[in-house]
Amino acid sequence: KISPVILSGGSGTRLWPLSRTGRPKQLLALTHDETMLQLTALRADDPARFGRPIIVANAAHADQIEAQLNAVGATPDTLILEPVARNTAPAIALAALVMPPEALMLVMPSDHVITDVAAFRAAIDAAVPLADDGWLVTFGIAPQAPDTGYGYIRTGEVLADGVRRVERFVEKPDRATAEAYLAEGCYAWNGGIFLFRADAYLAALERHAPAIAAAARASHAAARREGARLYPEAEAFGASPSDSIDYAVMEKAERVAVAPVDMGWSDVGSWDALHDLAVKDDGNNAHHGEVVAIDTSGCLIRTDGPLVAAVGVKDLIVIATGDAILIMPRGSSQEVKRAVEALKKNG
Ligand code: GDD
Ligand code: MG
Repeated sequence: KISPVILSGGSGTRLWPLSRTGRPKQLLALTHDETMLQLTALRADDPARFGRPIIVANAAHADQIEAQLNAVGATPDTLILEPVARNTAPAIALAALVMPPEALMLVMPSDHVITDVAAFRAAIDAAVPLADDGWLVTFGIAPQAPDTGYGYIRTGEVLADGVRRVERFVEKPDRATAEAYLAEGCYAWNGGIFLFRADAYLAALERHAPAIAAAARASHAAARREGARLYPEAEAFGASPSDSIDYAVMEKAERVAVAPVDMGWSDVGSWDALHDLAVKDDGNNAHHGEVVAIDTSGCLIRTDGPLVAAVGVKDLIVIATGDAILIMPRGSSQEVKRAVEALKKNG
């Protein structure tokens, strides 16, 4: 059986003011009644294929995570609680160390929407034989724009039905490079989801990022367990370089494969992305919470706090919470992190 490994350590500052350090994006219900974390766990809720999930997350979120997973019946096998964030390469190493070497791990970020779960599972089935054989398998998404926030995969020869060799993996290229890749046509976006044997990942990490592998091993060896919770030793883990699996391993490893999949994948990375995903009315407005909108169009208005009334405005994003309100034009939601930075500076 495949072990789902859910990464839940990001902070999601672009979704401020809803997303906060104490309650990051993956713990919020943004697109459905379920939170992003719950939706991720439910994608791998199929006892015929998957074991119970392993979650790697910030220790500060342990209670919220457990409560959310229990609420949807996806009780975690293990909750690995990082003392500090060191990005995804060491986080995934900790998960690899808690399972048998030959176990298959399905690494899933918790910041995506996938509307066609059947297509996702079919792609996993296609990838299993190669992963069993030691390949590091990624899932490729047809690129829609020269977005610089993704990894780009140059697809090569067919390795098996539905799986190709990765000729090149380039994490977050600059704009001009991304445009050139798109024009070439043989590139896919990296979906951020991976399938591989625990020992294959650890071997690649050992080879390409030995300091990360050593830190993960040391912190795992001295870890403390309390029921389902595993606390890696803090000093050893803190000594790890901070790097993502994409830069540390996928760009460098040799036996990397991609299963291209059309599964309604989207990154829920910004308020603009959420407006795109939302169900909209005739005026292209998306509302959530207690909202009164008169003569508005193209707006995303969401309140988890006060009643919001909008009159005669268009193409605005308005996000209200109990203690903060964000107002900005649609199309500039990548700029939210500037507000967050300014707030940090002003204390
Ligand atoms: N446990 C843990 N610890 N999780 C982490 C940490 C950490 O230190 N840092 C990030 N994560 C989680 C995030 O919560 C998210 O679910 C996932 O790991 C991916 O991290 P992101 O920071 O969101 O990565 P990205 O979006 O910049 O890039 C990745 O995803 C893209 C697709 O959305 C890469 O894999 C790209 O190649 C890919 O295209
Ligand atoms: Mg992301």
